[in-house]
Amino acid sequence: MVLPGDGIGVEVTAAAVQVLEAVARTHQIPIELIPDVVGGAAIDAYGVAIRPETVQRCKRAAAILFGAVGDPRWDDANALAKARPGEAILGLRKALSLYANLRPVRVDPALVDSSTLRPEVVTGVDLIVVRELTGGLYFSRPKRRYTSARGEAAVDTMRYSAAEIERIAERAFALAMTRRRKLCSVDKANVLETSRLWRDVVNRMALRYPQVRVTHMLVDAFAMALIRRPAEFDVIVTENLFGDVLTDEASMLVGSLGMLPSASLGAGTLGLYEPIHGSAPDIAGRGIANPIGAILSVALLLRWSLDAEAAAGTIERAVSKALADGLRTADLARPGIQALNTSAMTQAILERL
Ligand code: IPM
Ligand code: MG
Repeated sequence: MVLPGDGIGVEVTAAAVQVLEAVARTHQIPIELIPDVVGGAAIDAYGVAIRPETVQRCKRAAAILFGAVGDPRWDDANALAKARPGEAILGLRKALSLYANLRPVRVDPALVDSSTLRPEVVTGVDLIVVRELTGGLYFSRPKRRYTSARGEAAVDTMRYSAAEIERIAERAFALAMTRRRKLCSVDKANVLETSRLWRDVVNRMALRYPQVRVTHMLVDAFAMALIRRPAEFDVIVTENLFGDVLTDEASMLVGSLGMLPSASLGAGTLGLYEPIHGSAPDIAGRGIANPIGAILSVALLLRWSLDAEAAAGTIERAVSKALADGLRTADLARPGIQALNTSAMTQAILERL
């Protein structure tokens, strides 16, 4: 399923599809692409952020390539909006039980000068955040806004069952075993009851993974450590909202939010793949968005849903090569460097596949 969504989601997904079609051809991977409308575009056309039939098609798909959703006309803060574009992605994650959001953050050697952090801080960064995606503050009930005798109020709830924590921790431990065998679990156990349960479950599971070095950090201290000594981290596991905030922060290690891909996985091989950036209404329609986050999401799709590691590697190497050759989109270009637009960057990557 191809769900471009809104704003630059449409532009970067078109680029990602070109790359997918190219590697599918050269690696002889049979694919059938089914496009559909979600987000603000779907609210305009159908009055809902995602139609039930779209969700059904996604359930039957091998994988979902997602762009971004969000439209200022249907702003999240707009209390009068009849539907919110974000419901499309939240609804899909929940309906398909995609509970594990994997966000790899690797600083390409060519980009060590692009971060707002000093090169010696970001050199060698290669971490992956495993974010819980279907529970916690995002989804727990009660969740509502109401008026009582004491005036207006609103409530969100953070609830986790041990089973929900176990399955995400399991994913993180397994991933750590394929990497540098370091796992940092991030919580707020000095304040939150859910975090104390989280920590207990992770510690229990650690007994089954004696080769993995486990540490626990409080989320505030981790937010600091992430920009102070990011190269020391390998796998990070954390709850939904913490993961949302920390991965935007982590993207700055790489220099641009436009660079980061993500995978949302459940129990099977079906996965949803999307760049972590949003629809970026400020630059939408100008053809200047960085397509690399979306293109690297295609690599993750090939690796984790289609079991096509060779094709995935081809894409990642082509992106690295384009960067090593000095090619930059506007978000990464430094003064004096000619920035490529979306289609020129995509072309450059296609040529290097
Ligand atoms: C993300 C986004 C989403 C989230 C929004 C669009 C609902 O910020 O994928 O990180 O908060 O999960
Ligand atoms: Mg986010």
